[in-house]
Parts: sequence; structure tokens; C-alpha cells
Amino acid sequence: MMEAIAEKQTTVDSKSNVRDEPVIDQDMTGAQTVGVPFADNPKMSMRNVNVHYADKQAIFDVSLDIGKNEVVAMIGPSGCGKSTFLRCLNRMNDTIDICRIDGSLQLEGQDIYDPKLDVVPLRARVGMVFQKPNPFPKSIYDNVAYGPRIHGLAMRRTELDEIVETSLQKAGLWNEVKDRLHAPGTGLSGGQQQRLCIARTIAVSPEVILMDEPCSALDPIATAKIEELIAELSENYTIAIVTHSMQQAARVSNRTAYFHMGKLIEVNDTEKVFTNPDHELTEAYITGRFG
Ligand SMILES: Nc1ncnc2c1ncn2[C@@H]1O[C@H](COP(=O)(O)OP(=O)(O)OP(=O)(O)O)[C@@H](O)[C@H]1O
Ligand SMILES: [Mg+2]
Repeated sequence: MMEAIAEKQTTVDSKSNVRDEPVIDQDMTGAQTVGVPFADNPKMSMRNVNVHYADKQAIFDVSLDIGKNEVVAMIGPSGCGKSTFLRCLNRMNDTIDICRIDGSLQLEGQDIYDPKLDVVPLRARVGMVFQKPNPFPKSIYDNVAYGPRIHGLAMRRTELDEIVETSLQKAGLWNEVKDRLHAPGTGLSGGQQQRLCIARTIAVSPEVILMDEPCSALDPIATAKIEELIAELSENYTIAIVTHSMQQAARVSNRTAYFHMGKLIEVNDTEKVFTNPDHELTEAYITGRFG
């Protein structure tokens, strides 16, 4: 199943046959992904993805599946390409002129970079929640109703009302806003705004939700609420989450992918990544030796 399993890159003292301290191959020549990057039941399948910003390569030959109803966490030092890779998954990088993406990226077997594919419905199927809560300058109701309106998901006002209510409920925000649906979304607290953004994403019934550090602007209580929500959402959605918090990755994800300088170093069950990683770079990162 896994062609890309690389030998652990450790050095062995040929005389004593004792394993030296792992060598950290900082320039990463020849590194390949170790662990389990593929899923039995993939929702999204990425193969040999390379991304350039003009002449600068940001992602090197990354292959990864995201399984149905799985939560995959993406971790790694700043600048290693987590956001770049995540944005490839719903063609958000299309908005960056100098960005070029090669390789195969599929959603349920369909090439998402097919020139004939319309990105608007793609981004409804693969929704995104950003680092900084970014509600539209509209009412709470209209923020959530926005997607269903542009995608024509509700024929009548009562249907739209229902989508708005269930989306806010799923995002754990309904009780806090039901009496002020027509107040501006920007008037909510940061944590509430982020849940509003999650409600807005859910309102178009996505299959996959991409989250790029969704809690980094939030306090611990708001963060705990979002994490609880991710656990609930994973029953019905496939989720890829970028996080700088290893505790968060450990709490919310099934598998964790460790990126380093644009390469996917290791993918394994989350517990394994944080207790007994296969690659010394992963170990160096999780033990705080760099990053
Ligand atoms: N719009 C852009 N134009 C040019 N280069 C970019 C652009 N966005 C990202 N890069 C470069 O691509 C590389 C990967 O950046 P990316 O933002 O994906 O990293 P990251 O892992 O998400 O980092 P962080 O943890 O700091 O958010 C970096 O070298 C970055 O400078
Ligand atoms: Mg980032």
C-alpha cells in the first residue's frame, strides 16, 4: 500500500553498531514521507503535489489522503507550507497570481484542478475557516444565509430560516444569538465570530472543512468550544486542520501530518506522532528542539 515508506534516517556507528543521536537533515535532501499518508476510504487524495510561488518552491512532492469523516491535523514550523498545502485543497491559491500547483488533487476521485470545474461549487463542497474570524459586515442572519442564497439552496424564507438556525445550532452559537439575529456579526466576541464563520461554512452543507489555525486568535475558553465543535462536526464532515498547538492536534485529530520545509515528513495516527514518532524530525519538533 505504501511505496513511500523511507528508512529511518539514523546513523549507525559501524564498529559498535550503536545508534548515534539522530542526524537532523536540515536541508532535507532526499527526505520522503514515513508512516501512513494514505487512507482506505479517502475523501480527498493528493499525489505528488508541488507548489511554487514564482521561482520559489513551497511544497515538494507531497502525497496525502484525507479519509472520510477523518480529522487530519497538519503541524510543523512556521513557513513549512501548511497553509499553502491546505489552500490547495479548495483552490484558494488560485487567487495568488504567482502561485503554481502541480500534481494530482482529487475530491472523491474528481480532479479539482480540472479546467472545466467551477470553483464556486467546489468551495461549497470544500469550505474553509480562516485564522482570523472574518464575518461579513452584515447581520448574523445574513452571514449564515449568504452561502445558501448564492448557491440557491432555499426556495422559501422558511427554508432559509431553518438552514440559518440549524447551522448556528451545529456551530454551538444558536442560544447565544437567537434573540439578536439581525444585529451585526462583527459585534460578536472573537470566539463567537469564529463560530459564526463555522456556521457560515456549514450552511452550504460542505463535505470537507479546512481550518487554518482556527483558534489562534481565541482565548482558552473559546478555543475549548471550537475544539468541542470540531469533535462533533467530525461525525458528519471530513476535516483538515492546521494548528500550531500540539495539544490541540492531539485533542482533535485522528491522524497528524508533520511538514518541514515544504516536505511532508511523517503522517501517522495522532497518538503515535506524539508518543513514538517514526521520524527524527518529527521527534525534534514535538520535543521542542525547533519550530
Ligand atoms: N502569497 C505568497 N507569495 C509568496 N510566497 C508565499 C506566499 N504565501 C506563502 N509563501 C511562502 O511559502 C512558504 C510556505 O508558507 P505558508 O504560509 O504555507 O507556511 P505555514 O506553514 O502556513 O506557516 P505559518 O505557520 O507561519 O502560518 C513560505 O516560505 C512563505 O514565505
Ligand atoms: Mg500558515
